[in-house]
Amino acid sequence: MSPDVSSIFRPGLLDGQVALVTGGGTGIGLGISTLLADLGAHVVIASRKPEHLAGAEAGIRARGGAVSTVALDVRQPEAVKAAVDGIAQRLGRLDVLVNNAAGNFYAPSATLSANAWKSVVEIDLYGTFHCSQAVYPVMAAQGGGRIISTSMTLHYRGWPLMAHATAAKAGVDALTRTLAVEWAPQRIRVNAIAPGPIPTEGVRKAFTPPADSGVPDVFAAAEAKMAEYARKGIPLGRWGTPEDIANMVAFLASPAGDWITGAIFVIDGGEWLAKGGG
Ligand code: COA
Repeated sequence: MSPDVSSIFRPGLLDGQVALVTGGGTGIGLGISTLLADLGAHVVIASRKPEHLAGAEAGIRARGGAVSTVALDVRQPEAVKAAVDGIAQRLGRLDVLVNNAAGNFYAPSATLSANAWKSVVEIDLYGTFHCSQAVYPVMAAQGGGRIISTSMTLHYRGWPLMAHATAAKAGVDALTRTLAVEWAPQRIRVNAIAPGPIPTEGVRKAFTPPADSGVPDVFAAAEAKMAEYARKGIPLGRWGTPEDIANMVAFLASPAGDWITGAIFVIDGGEWLAKGGG
């Protein structure tokens, strides 16, 4: 436990717990991995990219956290099952699954290739299902667990050039509600978080629209423009941070969330409500 943790949660809150965070080596996922480890969980970071694993593991270990890694593509159900079974064997349990891995980019629906559609839907929706299904027997056998999946707010209205991601995340919402009811008897709580704009590198890349698309490119704007967007477009007046999202994940992972299942928490400073139809 690092002394400089600015967390509202009590030290040791997740002692003895094991958490798997997909896409947990960068951006929002790294913020989640870091906070869960700070609170005492052994965090297993899964990523397709080995270069994302090594840095994240070293960083968390340097803070005094318990961490290990697994190279994994959430689109491959057999590999997901093998990874989850490996974690259960090695660490003896698996309490928290954070389905954070996602893929995204702006592209016109009229010309989106079948493979591009498939890539995003497979990572965001199929990946969430594969990982949730893989942890089910482990969590059911140990008497419960928590699954926290990552949704978004863009599908609450139409969002041009994001057909693949909005369709996938609408599916994540539906899956969250269904699994919450189906797996409640096993005391597996299933919830989702819907982060608003958080300008991590991955998000900047994913949400930079093609130059000729006519879609405003808020992330490429100068710093002054970024500040102006936050002031005008986000009621709470600032961009989000990975820590904003991690705090909700920690809450849901903790006993404070014991009577919460099937909920989808928007964490966006009020952005989507304020945008209305525009
Ligand atoms: N516009 C249109 N099509 C695109 C694209 C873009 N910006 N980026 C990728 N594609 C297409 C590719 O052309 C390919 O289709 P094709 O075979 O018909 O040519 C298909 O998507 C798969 O691309 P590939 O790079 O082989 O897939 P991948 O599995 O390595 O990567 C992605 C998955 C495409 C989702 C990639 O963007 C990714 O890895 N993202 C992870 C990071 C991220 O997006 N984070 C989101 C934070 S919100």
